[in-house]
Amino acid sequence: MPKVIVLNGPNLNLLGQREPAVYGSTTLADVEALCRKTGERLGVEVECLQSNHEGVLIDAIHEAGRGVKAGTVLGVVFNAGAYTHTSVALHDAIKGAEVPVIEIHISNVHAREAFRHHSFISPAAAGIVVGFGVEGYVLAIEGLVRRSGK
Ligand code: DQA
Repeated sequence: MPKVIVLNGPNLNLLGQREPAVYGSTTLADVEALCRKTGERLGVEVECLQSNHEGVLIDAIHEAGRGVKAGTVLGVVFNAGAYTHTSVALHDAIKGAEVPVIEIHISNVHAREAFRHHSFISPAAAGIVVGFGVEGYVLAIEGLVRRSGK
């Protein structure tokens, strides 16, 4: 069964308790269960990982790239959290690993502070889902599966 990696970056482990007015009351465990359920519906295996550490996220993208080359992985649904707005290294990892990434943000970052308007991930991403709350993960997985033609 082809695999989709759902990768969450810094502070997303705090979902449910972190600024609920912005991010809602759904926990990361709930989001990951929703992603796995979506995978079951679409016939793909969903593997979830969260890290607060940039290097761990980079390693996960490299690993996903190896899976894409081996034909076992379709791509990555990636919420890079605040690293979205700061990380040239994550941009380079996506380019370097040649991995299809769907960038996702729970909130509409463009309706928020100016420092959230720029993304280092977007120019390297295959697609972007912004502002649909945690349902955005479902849309991103669907988009990734559809673009792969599987
Ligand atoms: C976020 C938006 C980012 O600006 C923020 O730093 C996050 C979460 C979102 O999902 O809306 O951590 O990526």
